[in-house]
Amino acid sequence: VFSHVVRAPEDPILGVTVAYNKDPSPVKLNLGVGAYRTDEGKPLVLNVVRKAEQQLVNDRSRVKEYLPITGLADFNKLSAKLIFGADSPAIQENRVTTVQCLSGTGSLRVGAEFLARHYHQRTIYIPQPTWGNHPKVFTLAGLSVKTYRYYDPATRGLNFQGLLEDIGSAPSGAIVLLHACAHNPTGVDPTLQQWENIRKLMRSKGLLPFFDSAYQGFASGSLDSDAKPVRMFVADGGELLVAQSYAKNMGLYGERVGALSIVCRNADVAGRVESQLKLVIRPMYSNPPIHGASIVAFILKDRNLYNEWTIELKAMADRIISMRRQLFDALRARGTPGDWSHIIKQIGMFTFTGLNSAQVAFMTKEYHIYMTSDGRISMAGLSSKTVPHLADAIHAAVTR
Ligand code: LMR
Repeated sequence: VFSHVVRAPEDPILGVTVAYNKDPSPVKLNLGVGAYRTDEGKPLVLNVVRKAEQQLVNDRSRVKEYLPITGLADFNKLSAKLIFGADSPAIQENRVTTVQCLSGTGSLRVGAEFLARHYHQRTIYIPQPTWGNHPKVFTLAGLSVKTYRYYDPATRGLNFQGLLEDIGSAPSGAIVLLHACAHNPTGVDPTLQQWENIRKLMRSKGLLPFFDSAYQGFASGSLDSDAKPVRMFVADGGELLVAQSYAKNMGLYGERVGALSIVCRNADVAGRVESQLKLVIRPMYSNPPIHGASIVAFILKDRNLYNEWTIELKAMADRIISMRRQLFDALRARGTPGDWSHIIKQIGMFTFTGLNSAQVAFMTKEYHIYMTSDGRISMAGLSSKTVPHLADAIHAAVTR
């Protein structure tokens, strides 16, 4: 009965790892998926995560009961505080509902399913380009996806004018997906002044912001600075959604821990929204897993662990920034044609190199360097030892 099923292509991002795993070369390098590596090229479990886990394991009173449909209550409260700020008026006024979801993707999907059922506008505008999974998540949830201009290949920076024009001509009430910081895949973020202009425009047109916050702490190394765009939109009293992930900033990739928050007009609406979110979640996966959320809650609740976390997070962000500098210097030293200053200017885990798909294919074939075909490289996968190899490959790709 399944013989008609055609083979689907691998995922454009996760498929890169599949191809990498099959390559026997000792010099192979995976710069595809955005997953942090140490300068020795190894995955990193944060010390605070190890400590929290140890204490959780030692606590014999902890059981493995089901969580509520909305997840771990402490985790939800602390996650809202992390993104909106401890003194957020929306939290104080009980206008925020937060539900624990399966990392960023799950949070986006639950939010989108809710919007498709209960919001009067079904169109969501996403930046061009954006994370490859975004259009699929929103389309399958029942929303209709349109794009707004975001990236300018000529400057390898923001096409701010294009962004304002496209958002400005969106129909009233449309949903707009915004990357809270460290835009994926471009590494290009608006300045705070530009954010303020975007906010004014969106509020004047009644557009609904849906923030994807997958990198809080990774852009600047500061959790508060990276949350500023979201907080600007909360401070004006308006509504919004935000999807949070702890994959990158706590290194909890495989734990699938994240949260969806919806900021509502008042506490009564927030309560009703939450009741409907439960109806979205229950038939999908009943309730979320307990382990990752317990780790996060443990760290966010304990002042010492929290402080240690911020230090480890900053160290990850700083290592990525130093990789940017090292790669830039290595290309300059080789006299590689082109202006590579965007490598230092872009923000977060990724550099959008400007290499085309043929150049990427060449680098994979000849240098065993794996990256997405749009020319995005995960700076977090690079190390001092592998920078020369990557620089050689880029040099060869652009001069051949
Ligand atoms: C990425 O863009 O590499 C990450 O967000 C991982 C993923 O799931 O695609």
